[in-house]
Amino acid sequence: MSRELSVAIVGATGLVGRELVRLLFQRHFPIKALRLLASSRSQGKKLLVGEQEIEVQETSNNSFAGADIAFFGATPEISRNLVPAAVKAGAVVIDDSPVWRMEPDVPLVVPEVNGDDLEQHRGVVAIPNSSTTPVVLALWPIHQVNPIKRVIVDTYQAVSATGARAVAELTEQARAVLDGKNVMPHVYPHQIAFNLLPEIDVFLDNGYTKEEWKMVQETRKIMHEPELAISATCVRVPVFVANSAAVHVELSHSMSADEIRNLLREAPGITVQDEPSISLYPQPWTAAARDSTFVGRIRQDVSHPNGFAMWVVSDNLRKGAALNSIQIGEDLIARNLI
Ligand SMILES: NC(=O)c1ccc[n+]([C@@H]2O[C@H](COP(=O)([O-])OP(=O)(O)OC[C@H]3O[C@@H](n4cnc5c(N)ncnc54)[C@H](OP(=O)(O)O)[C@@H]3O)[C@@H](O)[C@H]2O)c1
Repeated sequence: MSRELSVAIVGATGLVGRELVRLLFQRHFPIKALRLLASSRSQGKKLLVGEQEIEVQETSNNSFAGADIAFFGATPEISRNLVPAAVKAGAVVIDDSPVWRMEPDVPLVVPEVNGDDLEQHRGVVAIPNSSTTPVVLALWPIHQVNPIKRVIVDTYQAVSATGARAVAELTEQARAVLDGKNVMPHVYPHQIAFNLLPEIDVFLDNGYTKEEWKMVQETRKIMHEPELAISATCVRVPVFVANSAAVHVELSHSMSADEIRNLLREAPGITVQDEPSISLYPQPWTAAARDSTFVGRIRQDVSHPNGFAMWVVSDNLRKGAALNSIQIGEDLIARNLI
């Protein structure tokens, strides 16, 4: 890699932020100086980066002087308020929040799919929602050879996709339920332990939730298919890490399960786990803490001659957030865009 960069991480103490710190170090990102930023609550806290301890600073408008690249993994409010300050200070921002994703001049990028969109960046690049990224990653290689006509996605999303408070809530509720105690929900509208909630983010006038609508809009933007027919139902499940999705696809022409399996085996970022005879298929438990997006249960859809179905599982904190952000950074460096 080329020159070393001055890097800032906003939200360094959160679930995504800690993964960013870990992966930047593991992937030997070319760092000259690393600034760890969070709220005033974390001011002075020390985080381990490799063998070095770095003190966390409170985030402000002035946090970005001299930074070449800033990873934002804090709250939407912080992204809304401080991304412009970081860009003004000269940093290229990679933002994990939903705030800038649909802005026309902000590339929304999964590098294996639309890395070329980075060429158009004007200081901000957004990553997709953690449930959208793995689905697009799995659709893309198939779309290249057999254009997709319609997609129906049902997701099973982990609580860590909501942040650290939700992880604590599931832990506490699970203990309480097993101890026969009453449960008081705080993060979610209802109990999440031993339950499923078909409500992620707010409800919109069209009956979809905002999370489902993000899946629709973001998939279209990343794939440059503004008219793609796509519908989603997003469900929160009592799983700590890794989002799963049942994906039903209508293609332009019929394709065998073997052909689809072979395409996906060759695709970057994907591992096919599909051996029903030995119960081998992707699971959140085995996808957690892994970089790959896992695909299995690939089969022709008996309800449509050009249809197939697949099951996609991916770590929401890795490919769904930190890993995708760092890959964008690496791609920007490789393209000389920083
Ligand atoms: N979790 C996922 O799977 C996922 C996937 C894709 C995108 N994202 C996006 O990534 C972002 C972070 O998510 P997360 O799951 O890591 O959340 P989280 O665990 O709740 O962490 C939130 C982080 O934001 C910081 N923060 C809160 N208020 C702040 C303030 N006023 N100033 C500066 N920093 C502040 C927190 O710092 P303190 O510790 O000091 O409070 C913490 O570091 C969100 O925008 C989310 O939409 C998350």
